[in-house]
Amino acid sequence: MSSFISGRRSVLIRTLGISVGAGIASSIALRALASVVPLPTVQVWKSPTCGCCKDWIKHLEANGFKVQAYDKGNNAKRSELGMPTKFGSCHTALVEGYVIEGHVPAREIKRLLQEKPSALGLSVPEMPIGSPGMDGPEYGGQIDPYDVLLVRRDGTAIVYQAYRTKRNPSPISR
Ligand code: CU
Ligand code: CU
Repeated sequence: MSSFISGRRSVLIRTLGISVGAGIASSIALRALASVVPLPTVQVWKSPTCGCCKDWIKHLEANGFKVQAYDKGNNAKRSELGMPTKFGSCHTALVEGYVIEGHVPAREIKRLLQEKPSALGLSVPEMPIGSPGMDGPEYGGQIDPYDVLLVRRDGTAIVYQAYRTKRNPSPISR
């Protein structure tokens, strides 16, 4: 009897061991896959002379996005894509059907693509100093607080992520 129980127990332990092992292996495989699968291409409409647009594109590329840029301004594209003028900035982008207006951090674009909310897209209105692409040495380390807005198709918006310091998103609204 006791050998039967200990036998069963060792089978159980072995089974658990295998399933835990398989779980760890598959989560490692998933993580490896996530780092290998390339991020989608971001199409960007911008002015040919705007330096901060170029710096924002560099920020996207440094975070794994591919970028296709069109140097013909962004006002026409913004209105064509339905992004309200009041949320406007210096460049307008499109990724997987979402409109990205202005100096939106790559972090929130990745989160948007993961969460896939029902929305038009994201915006950082105007050009806050300290946002990605507006954070070069010419700004002398100045940081303006800003919000990344989730813009809905009806033209309303909520704060998707608040930035109160340059690199660290604020935990107060997520
Ligand atoms: Cu800009
Ligand atoms: Cu720009």
